[in-house]
Amino acid sequence: MISAIILAAGKGERMKTNIPKCAFPILKKPMINYIIDTLKKTKVDNRVIVVGHKKEVFLELLPNETFSVQEEQLGTADAVKSALDKIDSGITIVLPGDTPLISSTLINKLIDIQIKENNDMTLCTMMLDNPFGYGRIVRTNKKITQIVEEKDATAEEKKIKEVNTGIMVFDNEFLKKAIKKIKNDNAKGEYYLTDIVNFTKKISNYLLDNPDMLLGINDLYSLSVVEEKLEEDIKKKLLLSGVTIINKNTVTIGPDVEIEPGVTIYPNSFIMGKTKICKNSIIGPSSEIYNSIICENVLCRQSVVYDSTISKDATVGPFAHIRMNTIIGEKNRIGNFVEVKNSILGVNTKASHLSYLGDSEIGNNVNIGCGSITVNYDGKKKSKTIIGNNVFVGCNSNLIAPITIKDDSFIAAGSTITLDVEESDLAIARSKQINKKGYAKKYK
Ligand code: UD1
Ligand code: CA
Repeated sequence: MISAIILAAGKGERMKTNIPKCAFPILKKPMINYIIDTLKKTKVDNRVIVVGHKKEVFLELLPNETFSVQEEQLGTADAVKSALDKIDSGITIVLPGDTPLISSTLINKLIDIQIKENNDMTLCTMMLDNPFGYGRIVRTNKKITQIVEEKDATAEEKKIKEVNTGIMVFDNEFLKKAIKKIKNDNAKGEYYLTDIVNFTKKISNYLLDNPDMLLGINDLYSLSVVEEKLEEDIKKKLLLSGVTIINKNTVTIGPDVEIEPGVTIYPNSFIMGKTKICKNSIIGPSSEIYNSIICENVLCRQSVVYDSTISKDATVGPFAHIRMNTIIGEKNRIGNFVEVKNSILGVNTKASHLSYLGDSEIGNNVNIGCGSITVNYDGKKKSKTIIGNNVFVGCNSNLIAPITIKDDSFIAAGSTITLDVEESDLAIARSKQINKKGYAKKYK
């Protein structure tokens, strides 16, 4: 069996944040989710996450994972120990939860080395010009003999540029025996997993050629450095695949966003979560899109779209807000200052200016006049508005839900509609106009 133990129990004091370190988001995705998503693409068939500090946050993020609890944060060796009863024979890769951008290729490569060479352990190391804070790899006659932590290193050892990434693969038999021998007689008084090196007979290492993605995240600054590198990587891949990104330094795109070639992204756009954008769509300038599907040939300018779908050939914005499981239909025109929440709109429907459409089902070829709204909330509960096909809702109408407006009907401008409207009817609900002859002069 190939197991993975992910270490996420630490306090992460250097972060100075309320969210525990390994749950802190990078491009809006929690670090721990990166590791789990990556592991699912590898040879690993058993995952155990070690949690402790604020463990409930992790249980909520990953309800289907296996956890072990490290009650007190006594060091990385102690953390691994807490997970040992959840792995049996075979090999185990240990991954620090604060190195979230490790690739599936690297994980598989390290596993392959361990299997091929039948080592006690295989270590992943990297060269850093500034190795401060990392465990230094001490070699005697080229062979790894020790890992010295920053706080325990002599001035001479501190100059060593080869460091421990924290990623190690073990033979389980060796791991289970050797981990018991680790002591905590060091500067931090912790049980260091790195001390396990002292008990190896057969150890080898893989030296990373590009350490960028494996820098440990210990504070918000190192997080921002890693985040920037990831962002650049994501945008480079998209640009090379045929996505136009204008002024790319102002555009942010998350790791789970899929964008087809032929899409253009204008400046200051923020595209996150599990989002898909299909070919020939134009996003921005200044749009925020989260967990949404933008179909082909959509124009979405200066708008916010959350958890929704925009069907093909629709235009959204400027300054529209689409949210909560909304489906904007094909060829819709959703214009400025229009909010659409939890609603489904048919084909060729328009709400061009200043509207609120909430908890509604709206058919094809409907015109929602300027300033018209669904009145979905009575202070206690939310109710539904249903509008059929080819309905014309005149400007500034209030549709008081629950209400049904049937096909081909017409709502006169300025109406407050409280009763259902039948097919092809005209509904007027406003006070009658009275013109008083010559009264203006007198009034003035
Ligand atoms: C660790 C390594 C260091 C390596 C560096 C790479 C040790 C002793 N040191 O140092 O050699 O160069 O990572 O980034 O292993 N954790 C627990 N329980 C604990 C303590 C820590 O689960 O009791 C978890 C943390 O949540 C974190 C990971 O283990 O995800 C590493 O701990 P951290 O304190 O960040 O170790 P470093 O000082 O960075
Ligand atoms: Ca660390």
